[in-house]
Amino acid sequence: MLLVMPVRSPFSRKEHSLQHVLRSLCTALLVSSAASAVDLNGLTAIGPLASYTKSADGITITCADQSQVRFQVLAADLIRVRASLGHGLPARDHSWAIAKTSWDVPRWILQEEPNDLVLTTDELELVVHRSPVLVEFRDAATHHVINSDARPMAYDPKSGTVAAAKKLGLEEHFYGLGEKAARLDKRRGQFTMWNSDTPGYHEGTDPIYQDIPFYLGWQDGVAYGIFLDNSFRTNFDFGANLDGYTAFSAEGGEMNYYFFWGPSIKKILGRYADLTGRMPMPPKWALGNQQSRWSYFPDTLAEQIVSRYRAEDLPLDVLHLDIHYMNGYRVFTWSPQRFPDPSGFTAKLRKEGVKVVVIVDPGVKYQSPVPGATDPTSNPELAPQDQSYYIFNQGLANDYFLKRKNGQLWIGEVWPGKAVFTDYTMEAAATWWGDALRAYTDHGVAGIWNDMNEPSDFIDQTGKTQMDIITYDGGAYTPYAENRNVFALNMARATYEGLMRLRPDQRPYIITRAAYAGIQRYSTMWTGDNTATWDTLALSIPMYETLGLSGEPFVGGDIGGFIGRTNGELMSRWYELGFLTPFCRNHAEITAYDHEPWRFGSYYEGIIRKYLKLRYRLLPFLYNELEEAHRTGVPIFRPLLLNYQNDYNTISIDDEFMVGADLLAAPVLRPAETRRLVYLPEGTWFDFWTGGQFKGGTTIQADAPLETIPLFVHAGAIIPMGPEMNYVGEKTGPLTFNIYPGAQGRVDLSLYEDDGVSQGYLNGTVRRTTVSYQATAAGAEIHVSAPAGSYQPGRRTLIFSVRLAPAAKEVLLDGHPLPSVRSGQTAPGWSKSGDSLCIQFDDNGQERIVQIR
Ligand code: NOJ
Repeated sequence: MLLVMPVRSPFSRKEHSLQHVLRSLCTALLVSSAASAVDLNGLTAIGPLASYTKSADGITITCADQSQVRFQVLAADLIRVRASLGHGLPARDHSWAIAKTSWDVPRWILQEEPNDLVLTTDELELVVHRSPVLVEFRDAATHHVINSDARPMAYDPKSGTVAAAKKLGLEEHFYGLGEKAARLDKRRGQFTMWNSDTPGYHEGTDPIYQDIPFYLGWQDGVAYGIFLDNSFRTNFDFGANLDGYTAFSAEGGEMNYYFFWGPSIKKILGRYADLTGRMPMPPKWALGNQQSRWSYFPDTLAEQIVSRYRAEDLPLDVLHLDIHYMNGYRVFTWSPQRFPDPSGFTAKLRKEGVKVVVIVDPGVKYQSPVPGATDPTSNPELAPQDQSYYIFNQGLANDYFLKRKNGQLWIGEVWPGKAVFTDYTMEAAATWWGDALRAYTDHGVAGIWNDMNEPSDFIDQTGKTQMDIITYDGGAYTPYAENRNVFALNMARATYEGLMRLRPDQRPYIITRAAYAGIQRYSTMWTGDNTATWDTLALSIPMYETLGLSGEPFVGGDIGGFIGRTNGELMSRWYELGFLTPFCRNHAEITAYDHEPWRFGSYYEGIIRKYLKLRYRLLPFLYNELEEAHRTGVPIFRPLLLNYQNDYNTISIDDEFMVGADLLAAPVLRPAETRRLVYLPEGTWFDFWTGGQFKGGTTIQADAPLETIPLFVHAGAIIPMGPEMNYVGEKTGPLTFNIYPGAQGRVDLSLYEDDGVSQGYLNGTVRRTTVSYQATAAGAEIHVSAPAGSYQPGRRTLIFSVRLAPAAKEVLLDGHPLPSVRSGQTAPGWSKSGDSLCIQFDDNGQERIVQIR
């Protein structure tokens, strides 16, 4: 049945034109966004080593010009270099990014040589040349140089700029730096870190919303990492200067970087997660399909979108409310006309299995109360706000808003017009903000979407006129130049901690636009205001891959493109990519045409349905990968390089990606194409759709009609899949293990499960099951381990689908013959179809042994 949707015209003319003016303003500003070069000219080099001291965890050198550099051993493969240039190291040592400050110091030794100090751990050798002071990192096992200074660290005593330059390897390639509108390999590029609102960004726009000053260097299969933990505006040059060096600089603060030694990228990402924190498990439904629009209102229209999803047999877990749900763009309020009964609204959607996420911007409407007006004491979020706005009043009374040096409030301009911004570096203010979220949680809102948190200001997007803003920062009164880049991180922290206080047993779900390193501890992310173009679709792969290599595993972008006019073909191809991204959300700008999945007619909708249903079937697999990312820091959405680090062919492939270790996707990224080249790394690969096999280490031509994304599974993998569902948790089974035997004849999978919503996973309420497949002389054996952990998934059938199965005459379960059944029959037993074997029986929560012979 098709529901007829009313033609939407939800915006008043006034609102519309205002939005237009603002958007064009933003776009104009975007043009001025540009990466700055690292300029080493005119900087003063630090002086030669004058003296040094040794402590339990490293050495501190003092240079002839009073510069001090501390080399701190945190782990055998992690050394911190903290330099204060031109003066001694200050006592205060604080970073918003760092999660772990206390380390068990590994063993290390110091050799004092005439020209060098050599500090050696079990894995790394750090050589500090005395005059000039040059730092070199070597592999302790081979003494091979991994990374070395091209010149001494340098600084500008007037401006406060600090810089470091490293030798550029002939075949050195660079990855990371968080959210960059750039290709995967950053060699010869230059990039700036300055959180910026950049709607309609395209390849080359830099900086954009997020900044993670952490990168990986790769040469000859060997990788190291550098995290420049300095939240001032920083610049990176990966050989763009053509002078044979890479460099990074900061416009203030210390030259403070962490050096990670691999050689494996996965190991570095694990260490980076140790240092800056791990992504907590998001609720499982965050992996469900999400729908958004700037903006769905009133409530009845939002409800119709959900009904239409159900009527069209399309799965949906989350509906987002953009800025029009509020009362006049006042955060922590509800529009009495558009959402008169928010609790009733979220309850209705919950019945359909759909959770509500609301947008929360940092800009608090500047609104002095009308004299005599009082704040309502209960449910202020539902009260009329025209006389008095409780959030503004509370923030002002408690002095929570950011101020300029002269003591005046910083008043910027965002959706509500004049707006003020909370100083999230002040604990009391952060707690107040987090507590205010009860305006949403009390009404059944499930998640929070932090937007405009660079923070965006329509008066000045560059931040230049905001440099006299002071942040409290634990009493250090830090200038904005240092703390603008951590504004969003601290807003996310306030939000996360607030949700934890309000709903202690539930997993917070937060999405952010801007960020700094460490954001993964609090929030997932999306890539902001992309455009409805094929170029942006293609750009999204290196962007997600790069974010994953920068410690952010939960990523995705607006499916269909946020700005501009998408079409059925582009939309279909976008879903063919987006159905495999952790964050899977269709969203569109206020003036864009509707582009919900049914928008372009049943042919395209059919393609979208196919992929959304497949996503839900892949949930056990995706959730397993999510838990791996949580535990190890290794992302879900990966460049081929991450899995095949020694394969030179993969160093710049960014029109393909992998999900986890074994699923390779090669979406079509250009219009009207129905075939494409796909590079398959070493090993044997199965075509996901046809079961056909390919030998890897080569490039193949893959068929890709509009309905099909080329997808391949590496031989030696087990891909767990669940049933089709309307929403996460609707059904408990069956659970299917798709087994793709490899050359060794053995395949293993460790499957992780938990309740998907609570914090119980932190206390062992999980279930881990190992499934192994082993070819034997008689045929094959499948072993299902007794599950570990106390989580009970409920009744379900287990199905094992074995590709290229041995010819079977009989199948035994725990020593007893299983009946042979017709292919497709849903009864315990086994059946053959082509060269696949299908075995099914009920999960009794015990160890099981299946013999095929
Ligand atoms: C900018 C965000 O990037 C976009 O997703 C949102 O729709 C608009 N702000 C309006 O809130």
